[in-house]
Amino acid sequence: MMEIKIERTATPKAKPEGALGFGKYFTDHMLIMEYTEGKGWHDARVIPYAPIALDPSAMVFHYGQEIFEGMKAYRTEDGRTLLFRPYENARRMNNSCDRLCMPKMDEDLWVECIKAAVAADIDWVPEEAGASLYIRPFMIATDPALGVRASNHYYFMVIMSPSGNYYPTGIDPVKIYIETEYVRAVKGGTGFTKCGGNYAASIKSQVKAHEAGYTQVLWLDGVHREYIEEVGTMNVFFKIDGEIVTPALEGSVLPGITRKSSIELLRKAGYNVTERRLSVHELEDAAHNGKLEEIFGTGTAAVISPVGELKINDEVITVNNGEIGPVSKWLYDTLTGIQWGRIADENDWTVEVKA
Ligand code: COI
Repeated sequence: MMEIKIERTATPKAKPEGALGFGKYFTDHMLIMEYTEGKGWHDARVIPYAPIALDPSAMVFHYGQEIFEGMKAYRTEDGRTLLFRPYENARRMNNSCDRLCMPKMDEDLWVECIKAAVAADIDWVPEEAGASLYIRPFMIATDPALGVRASNHYYFMVIMSPSGNYYPTGIDPVKIYIETEYVRAVKGGTGFTKCGGNYAASIKSQVKAHEAGYTQVLWLDGVHREYIEEVGTMNVFFKIDGEIVTPALEGSVLPGITRKSSIELLRKAGYNVTERRLSVHELEDAAHNGKLEEIFGTGTAAVISPVGELKINDEVITVNNGEIGPVSKWLYDTLTGIQWGRIADENDWTVEVKA
């Protein structure tokens, strides 16, 4: 395994006080590792958190060869620090690498990089209930060149941010509307990857949503504009007449790790979970017939977020009286229970980080 050098800061920052919000404060250190064509990944080091210098012609600025991951470190009541299924993030980043022609990484090295970064800032893992250390691994193309091609040099970096809830409403239900004008992704595109471009293309709709008093939009498939895909910051589940439905992964939906874990936990608890196509019409019919019981989103940042209001065209549908439903609540308690070490981790999903 490659040695990861550690250079500690001489000037540690004061920890933030009061509400953390999401992704606003950054820890004292960061990890950086370089890739050079012909040499592979090299020079992994944890260094003081600081701006980095890049050539203005660095390819990431022009053609957007950039991918990222999202994960968290959780502080347990007995003082341990846990990661949640980090190998899933490593695998997903390698899938993103493949689609964006970026260099893959050995999964063990990837997880070692995350552990080294978290270990350096272990005193930044928040102890308050519900707060955690959000970890943002990312990779950028750094060749100074304007030809459209894959870069020969990359940085892999890990930055960390003590964070609370992603949505200001916390666990209170969010309001979303179905976006019919713009689309997020199409099959054959990059929808299944975590590339920055997917998120850049979503901001226009998010601005529209905020102006209309909604938290996020629910995307439809790019071909028929008919089938439910995801929310962009989270995957989405619907409880319809006892069946829990989530859109199948057909290339345009992000394969969320919280999505996968939720399916596994729900099935193990005996719920009927189906990954399939779900049309807006089916959803409308279910709502009209009183069969739409719950909607919730799943994501690393979003955790389990109940949806209390859904707008379809001009119709506003209130879900479960705008309150968190029993399945969402059970899933939230179970998942966060495992992540914070309050519930036995029967699946061996958590990985401890030691300073
Ligand atoms: C995450 O949930 O970690 C994500 O990466 C979604 C994000 C855009 C906040």
